[in-house]
Amino acid sequence: MASGKQERPNGAAEDWTIPQGWGSYSAVEHATWDRLFDRQAKLLPGRVAPEFLNGLDVLRMDRPGIPDFGELSDRLMKLTGWQVVAVPGLIPEEIFFDHLANRRFVSGNFIRAPEQLDYLQEPDVFHDIFGHVPLLAHPVFADYMQAYGRGGQRAAALGAIEKLARLYWYTVEFGLIRSGDDLRIYGAGIVSSHGETIFALDDPSPNRLGFDLRRVMRTKYRIDDYQQNYFVIDSFDDLLRQTLETDFGPVYAELATQPDIEIDTILPQDQVFTRGTQLYAREQLGSR
Ligand SMILES: [Fe+2]
Repeated sequence: MASGKQERPNGAAEDWTIPQGWGSYSAVEHATWDRLFDRQAKLLPGRVAPEFLNGLDVLRMDRPGIPDFGELSDRLMKLTGWQVVAVPGLIPEEIFFDHLANRRFVSGNFIRAPEQLDYLQEPDVFHDIFGHVPLLAHPVFADYMQAYGRGGQRAAALGAIEKLARLYWYTVEFGLIRSGDDLRIYGAGIVSSHGETIFALDDPSPNRLGFDLRRVMRTKYRIDDYQQNYFVIDSFDDLLRQTLETDFGPVYAELATQPDIEIDTILPQDQVFTRGTQLYAREQLGSR
């Protein structure tokens, strides 16, 4: 995950990486991972894209405790040429894009406190590793992530990061995918969250709309609660193809002339899987 300008912490390398410090995790920290892992492993079958479960399997992520990034990287490297590196938390955008463009996934090395299993201020090792890494074992998704990193470098030069970040948000973090007549989850923000794994598929509140690259890049999103919109891709192949075949420069120029789309809006041209009631969002906002 990237954020704006900030100071590189002491002890971080020029590319902001730090040692994972696997030997320093406490028994409580490993046990927190195990509790989160077990809870999601029970819930996900039938809800998550099968490619995700396959990733958990081939990367042997069901072994107890927080994974060692070195061992995980060895397996991932053989499968798709990706590695996992530790960073101290949010890092500058250009560093984040450079890592992705070079097939390095950055992960926080810390884990949430056991009494905060469902509350995250910053992406931790469970979100980053459990949520993101299984799909990096899938060749097409692995290529998509690298394409995103390269696209980020271009977007930075064109002043269009805000637009591109929405693509990441609505796919890598909160994406849904078709599976026959069903929908499945694949975004890391959903698959690493017990509550949102249920909400994203079952709750009548959010809209579930067909993925459209330009539409997604115009759509606002919320960072503080469950999403009000989910976008559904046809397949990972289709997502990668659209990303590679689109010349983003002219698209950014075109989007700069169009207004952003509000978070709960459904457009006449949208492919609607679910017209959400938005009841959950209204209740949450009303109680704030
Ligand atoms: Fe994430």
